[in-house]
Order: sequence, then structure tokens, then C-alpha cells
Amino acid sequence: MPISKLLLAVVPALALLPATVRTNRGPAPLRTATLETVVEPPEEPRNTYWCVRHGQSTANVENIISSNPAIGSTKHELTALGKEQAHVAGADLWANLSELEVPLEDVVVYSSNFTRARETAQIAAYEMQRRAQIAAGDWEAPPLLQIGLLSDLRERDFGSLDGLSAGNYDNVWPRDMASPFDGTDGVEPVADVCQRLSNMVDLLEKRHSGKQVILTAHADVIQIFQTWFAGCDVRAFSSYRFANGEVRRCDRAGECLPVPAPMQSQAAAAL
Ligand SMILES: *[C@@H]1O[C@H](CO)[C@@H](O)[C@H](O)[C@H]1NC(C)=O
Ligand SMILES: *[C@@H]1O[C@H](CO)[C@@H](O)[C@H](O)[C@H]1NC(C)=O
Repeated sequence: MPISKLLLAVVPALALLPATVRTNRGPAPLRTATLETVVEPPEEPRNTYWCVRHGQSTANVENIISSNPAIGSTKHELTALGKEQAHVAGADLWANLSELEVPLEDVVVYSSNFTRARETAQIAAYEMQRRAQIAAGDWEAPPLLQIGLLSDLRERDFGSLDGLSAGNYDNVWPRDMASPFDGTDGVEPVADVCQRLSNMVDLLEKRHSGKQVILTAHADVIQIFQTWFAGCDVRAFSSYRFANGEVRRCDRAGECLPVPAPMQSQAAAAL
């Protein structure tokens, strides 16, 4: 048994540091021995990463967990509100990128292949393109943004909880807070999500340099990405919840992490 897991078994209190009750801005502080086997983030990434959560989907309205790729990539599309949120995400991204004076040539867009993420990426890319054309006064400019699908951006696998009430997150996230290796109910452990996101970043860092990389995906996946990338305690990812259609830059210093909020019950979250 790796020493980190042993420690976790021996000193459970260590694993329950109150990341969720912190109220100050900035990253959760610890990289304790319990996290030794979680893969490290890249030292000096060549690209800038932005995460976007998909807009409201029919699965959100039904308040169910949709994590099976076979179902989630063919069903569970955006609602009318979800499409609006995707347009707003595109407008926010455009505002952010034009503030940085980034031309669309330096933007690349990737998405999970789940329907709700794909549709969000398409609408947000359309919105960025449209705004770039308006800003340039050039309606004949060719579309520059294409969307790459990345399997590593897929929704976290919720195992036997797939298709069940989103209220089940209320049991998963506290277990995640205790250990990034917990796989109860066949749920993909946080450390495994970190590993696939690390593989993805390796690929993107080889493929691109100096780009603004937009990743359109799912709440748990991008929250884990943001905390992991910032070198923070990944167990606390559920304290940094993304709303539908929310856009955030993800930085190595953790300056872009919002104020951590206590875990919110999903039992009654149907919209
Ligand atoms: C999405 O990717 C998964 C693998 O992660 C695959 O099983 C599924 O068929 C893909 N869906 C579509 C619509 O391409
Ligand atoms: C991105 O734009 C939105 C909307 O204008 C703004 O609220 C947000 O602070 C910006 N984020 C960054 C990182 O510039």
C-alpha cells in the first residue's frame, strides 16, 4: 500500500482539513502527504487555459446524473436557457480575450464529446466569431474557430450512480473531501480524473504554444482541473462550483480561484 494511502487510513483526521470553511480568497493551502500520488500539474505551461461549464441541459432539469458517454453524447442536450447561457459564455470569453488583445487566431476550442458540452462549445465559438467580425467590421472573415473533441474532458464517471438523482452528489463529494482515491459506488476517483486531465494537458502543450485554450466540459471535471492546475488540494474541488455557462481562466498561481463556498446540497437542485 502506498505510504500516502496508509497515512490516510491511519490519520483520517488529516484528510478532513476544513478546506470548505475557508473564507479568504486564494488557493487551499495544502499539499500533504495524503496527496503524494496525485499527478503533479505542469511547471510552466506554454498556453493559457480557460474552462467553461456547459449550459443547462435536460439532465440538469431532470436533476439526474448523466455520466455514461454512450447516453450523454447522444442525449441530454441543452435547454433553451442552456443555449442562452452558452451565448453569454461566448460573449464573456470574447470580452476576456479582447481585453487581453488576443486575436481569434490565437484561440483554440476543445470540448467534451457529451452533447451538452459540444453544443455549448459550438454556440460559444459562434458568439466569439460573431463579435470578432463586428469588432473588425468584416462580415466576410472566414470562421477561425473549430472545435476539437477530447475524450479526457468527458464527464466524471459516476459508476452505479449514473442515471440516478443528482442528490447522490451529496454522498460523493464529502468522500472526495476525505480522499482523492475514493472509488465507492464505482465513481471515478478524483486522482484518476487528475491523471486523465494531466494526459490531456501534455497533449495540448505539445500541440500548441502561446494559445488561449478553451476547455468546455462538466462541473466536476473543470473544478478538479482548476484546483489541480493551481497546485491546490484537489479534495476541495467541490468548494469551487461552476454555474452553468460560467467561464473562468485557470492559472498556475490559483489567483483565478473564486472564494471557496461550502458544498451545496444537490438533492433539491432541480431547476
Ligand atoms: C464519445 O466518446 C466516447 C468515448 O469516451 C464514445 O464511447 C462515444 O461513442 C462518443 N460519442 C460520440 C457521439 O461520438
Ligand atoms: C471575463 O469577462 C467577464 C464578463 O465581462 C468578467 O466578469 C470576468 O471577470 C472576466 N474574467 C477575466 C479572467 O478576465
